[in-house]
Amino acid sequence: MPAASPTLPDRSQLDAWDRRHAWHPFTQSAETALYPPLQIQSGEGPWLFDIEGRKYFDGNSSLWTNVHGHRDPDLDAALRAQIEQVAHATWLGLSHPLAATLAAKLAQLGGPKLTRVFFTDNGSCAVEVALKLSRQFWQLTGQPDKREIVGFTGGYHGDTLGAMAAGDGEAFHGRFADWFLPTHHVPAPHCRELAGKFLVADSAASLRDLRELLGSRSKHIAAVILEPSVQGAAGMQHQPPGFVADVAALCHEHGVHLILDEVFVAFGRLGKMVVSRSEGVTPDFLCVGKGLTGGYLPLAATLTSDEIHDAFRGTFEQGRTFYHGHTFTANPLACAVALASIEKLEPLVASGTLEKRIAAFGKIFAENFSGHPQVSAPRQRGFTAAIDLVADAPNLKPYPASARIALQVCLEARRRGVILRPLGDSLLLVPPPCCEESDFRFLGENARAAVDTVVNRSGGPHLRFADFASSNNPHPIN
Ligand SMILES: Cc1ncc(COP(=O)(O)O)c(C=O)c1O
Repeated sequence: MPAASPTLPDRSQLDAWDRRHAWHPFTQSAETALYPPLQIQSGEGPWLFDIEGRKYFDGNSSLWTNVHGHRDPDLDAALRAQIEQVAHATWLGLSHPLAATLAAKLAQLGGPKLTRVFFTDNGSCAVEVALKLSRQFWQLTGQPDKREIVGFTGGYHGDTLGAMAAGDGEAFHGRFADWFLPTHHVPAPHCRELAGKFLVADSAASLRDLRELLGSRSKHIAAVILEPSVQGAAGMQHQPPGFVADVAALCHEHGVHLILDEVFVAFGRLGKMVVSRSEGVTPDFLCVGKGLTGGYLPLAATLTSDEIHDAFRGTFEQGRTFYHGHTFTANPLACAVALASIEKLEPLVASGTLEKRIAAFGKIFAENFSGHPQVSAPRQRGFTAAIDLVADAPNLKPYPASARIALQVCLEARRRGVILRPLGDSLLLVPPPCCEESDFRFLGENARAAVDTVVNRSGGPHLRFADFASSNNPHPIN
């Protein structure tokens, strides 16, 4: 007999505890206190259900992680099978069958040079490991002056100290800048793709600046770090085809490591297993996370080469060991679900199923947002899309920051049964790759209706949180 679920307190008690005791990430609690919290209880496919049984489309794939949908039967079965064995056993000095198998699988996916896999629990730590491995590699190989990092404008690599330094998010991380590692940022390319068409594709300035910087400082530079193809947290900013290969060639020419941060883009998000491989590039370090477990459990990995790994070998007293690790590294439950997710995803990529779904998503997204008078720069690549909300699109006139325009649209979308997250005045649409055309239509039409409702509100789009009571959601569970 399965154990009965614990009886939950009622909604008002949960909300009260949440407001009194919880501290949500990236969230201004003075603001969230003004509208009703949403307590998600369950999920099915691309849908989530709140504790009162209302149904919401998961339009941000549960923070860009979900691949096959919620409660996928195969992933659930893999988890159940592993829980019959063991939930956790340390990976420090011990191994277990699923992590060893997953390491071999990731090495196969990463390409011939990326043979070594270092597990962590989240994307920030996967990046942190790549940075530290790069730094220590140069120390161990007689080039201790190589300690600087090069990132790209708008880059985001996580919220730990090294990852913050490598990223370029003044609004997120500026307060901590005086604690950062020495970092340079070169401009990201100007590129925008929509429904398979390029509207802008210019990486000349970006490559020129990178070439100049590496030409003058490569003796001091350990690594260049890049989110290949799409910079997610910059608001879905694209790179032209060939850009990643050009960056890789410059790194190679100047003897600098290349770290590709695929925490967001790998495992189906752009229709491929691993983006760098589809771009014909093998980095020195490849970071993956998020979709690695299909969005089920926290697991991340940093892949690297034998050449880098072997520089750390030696007797214990030589002190070459890499002293980094996390308690739940390579957790067996997470590895089980990652293996099941990869096994399910590979045929979807190989058969072109994901490409077809991406084409449907791009078409529906463009139909809903191209030419909208309050939408600037609609863009889409893979299962990622974004718009910038502006008061007047032809003149790029912004809304006042106090209008919190994208937050308002998200709250209106929630009322219509779609969960989205704002990013400044941008609205990001990141549906799970398991979606079909009807799901994209539901997402596109309701996101568009939410934009229309907010921008056409009488008296202007002023912040009126009371309008967004989630109880108005017209999509009750049936
Ligand atoms: C490209 C990229 N790298 C790293 C991270 C950090 O991952 P995590 O939130 O799992 O630490 C993110 C998170 O959004 C990301 O998009």
